[in-house]
Amino acid sequence: MEKKIESLGEKEEELSNEIEQLLAMLPKAKNWNGVELCQYQGFWCQSKYLCGMIRFQRHFEAQDSDIILTTFPKCGTTWLKALIFTIANRSKYSLKNSPLLSQGPHELVLYLDYDLFMRDPLPALEDFPKPRIFATHTPYPSLPNSIKNSNCRIVYICRNPLDQFVSHWKFMVRVRVRNTEPISIDEAFEMACQGRQEFGPIWEQVLAYWKASKEEPHKVLFLKYEDLKENNKFYVKKLADFIGYPFTEDEEKQGKIEEISKFCSFDNMSNLEVNKNGAHPTGLKNDIFFRKGLVGDWKNYLTTSMSERLGKIIEEKLSGSGLTFKKT
Ligand code: A3P
Repeated sequence: MEKKIESLGEKEEELSNEIEQLLAMLPKAKNWNGVELCQYQGFWCQSKYLCGMIRFQRHFEAQDSDIILTTFPKCGTTWLKALIFTIANRSKYSLKNSPLLSQGPHELVLYLDYDLFMRDPLPALEDFPKPRIFATHTPYPSLPNSIKNSNCRIVYICRNPLDQFVSHWKFMVRVRVRNTEPISIDEAFEMACQGRQEFGPIWEQVLAYWKASKEEPHKVLFLKYEDLKENNKFYVKKLADFIGYPFTEDEEKQGKIEEISKFCSFDNMSNLEVNKNGAHPTGLKNDIFFRKGLVGDWKNYLTTSMSERLGKIIEEKLSGSGLTFKKT
């Protein structure tokens, strides 16, 4: 045991040297909130989280029963965390006793890289109750092989990039480095058009998950925020089938799908005391993850020329893939 800890210590020292050297070489940029980003494996990652990312890539051992939620930031992660947790644990907890009544979705479903492997080089993931549900914003090509090669399921959600942009900009203004000026919408927009945002470019991430879902539909479920909004019950059922927790006929007759859909809805979740006034262990207030929850809010912020410009970039980048976003 002591030997193991000793060798882990040595490996960690090697890793921190490696990261230091890597960081010295990687392209850098300022994120919209003022923190440093580095361009790692083609995507922008917060420099301070590179260590958690690399540990996750090297050490995470997926199990066949795992459910991995992958998302582009501000595309519905909080919503999907609540939905997957509730669907997969419904035989353990009735909605009246749901842990979501006292803990935010981000406390119940942790990020593998930013939470777990950042805090601990080898987190005790075997102790997590099954099914283990984890989240990450990591692009598909950079996921650890054990996720790709095991039978675990990947649920991916993205969103119309115009709404994603507005949501992200609003979020970044709130989490900006203390005593700094908030970034203007024009400045953030310019960066978004260059693909410069955390985990961006967005078009590269959505395309890679889109292709993976076409190649392995039983393995990767590709969802869009807008579809979930429009036809929530259909997607709750689809999600339950996909993750291996299908609703029984009796449950359907009893209205279980509607109940879960309502429970995890923006109106219900954003009005829970824990999400109105509670805080995440990192100190972030839970209410930061609940803003408006609307489709098409970009129209309140973007000029016609802005929406046309970003819309055109996205259209060009996705052209030929079959993936489109409605101009709602
Ligand atoms: P808006 O800023 O447009 O309101 P993420 O969870 O990936 O960080 O994404 C945050 C976005 O999802 C925010 O969008 C937030 O309001 C919205 N959201 C959070 N919970 C939701 C829910 N239960 N239903 C619908 N949208 C939700």
